[in-house]
Amino acid sequence: MILARPKQLHDIGVLGLNERNADYIARLNPRRLYPLVDDKVLTKELALKAGMAVPDLYGVIAHQGEVRKFADIVRDRESFVIKPARGSGGDGIFVVIGRGKRKRDNYRLSSGLFVSEGEILHHISNTVSGQYSLAGQRDHALIEYCVHFEATFAEVSYQGVPDIRVIVYRGYPVMAMVRLPTRASDGKANLHQGAVGAGVDMSTGETLTGVLGNDVVDEHPDTGALIAGLQIPMWDFILESSARGYDVTGLGYLGVDMVIDADRGPLILEMNARPGLNIQIANNTGLRERIERIEALYDPSANALQRARVARREFPARIQADLFKTA
Ligand SMILES: Nc1ncnc2c1ncn2[C@@H]1O[C@H](COP(=O)(O)OP(=O)(O)O)[C@@H](O)[C@H]1O
Ligand SMILES: [Mg+2]
Repeated sequence: MILARPKQLHDIGVLGLNERNADYIARLNPRRLYPLVDDKVLTKELALKAGMAVPDLYGVIAHQGEVRKFADIVRDRESFVIKPARGSGGDGIFVVIGRGKRKRDNYRLSSGLFVSEGEILHHISNTVSGQYSLAGQRDHALIEYCVHFEATFAEVSYQGVPDIRVIVYRGYPVMAMVRLPTRASDGKANLHQGAVGAGVDMSTGETLTGVLGNDVVDEHPDTGALIAGLQIPMWDFILESSARGYDVTGLGYLGVDMVIDADRGPLILEMNARPGLNIQIANNTGLRERIERIEALYDPSANALQRARVARREFPARIQADLFKTA
């Protein structure tokens, strides 16, 4: 497909990076609030305090001297995830789904590849020294519960857990997408890693078509299953939780990422003060119109549940010509 030029995109209400940064992030996201979401350990604490469910934290490795604590932290665990506290875009994340049958200190990654304990220690040591952190600052590695697959997206995920991203504007959910792991994305649902993004009908929680890179796709590239028409379970709960992400962080322009665990239901994975803009391509809709709609009906006394209901009412998927195609 041919993408429209930036000017045309602007005219049809698609936010660009400059506009997002200047009009929304600078105005609605005070810098002092960034630390709350830029460090995944802090975000977890914050969400827990607010009564929101998150993947259990097994341990944190805060400096080089603690790297050898790894074996103890995972001693009784078959599966777990190691990630940089200040990472982004899925970089530096190991999704460990099992152990070697004979050698317990061999770990199987989502991709099926085995890594040795030595390799993991090396990876954690690099993480702590800041290889994956936002500005190369020293970092912590966190080790957490590995989310178990929920059946809804089994056919459209390749070895990994899909996540649901909701953009929340001044407390109101405005747009969402499901990101589906692929063979290329190695157990991670980040678009940069090669995951597919599928738009979501805010009224129903049903998936729309997907994007892979800049291409519109109907089928998952590895499984061939259709992407559209899947019902996200507990959609009401997901909308309300994402709306509460605003109450918890104070960020007026926010991306809330959730995953659905087969046993524990929806969990908050992370929150983001600079959510990407590809979500508009996945939904074939620009953000500006929705943001303007919220400005028009903004009610400072509305609670998260009420704001979630507004999203359901106001933002059904439109049947429309492909916005992103040029004539
Ligand atoms: N605890 C987990 N269990 C299973 N998969 C996970 C877990 N944490 C992260 N992932 C996978 O890795 C992706 C990126 O994780 P995330 O915590 O959002 O970090 P990042 O800031 O790098 O995007 C998720 O979308 C998910 O697919
Ligand atoms: Mg993420």
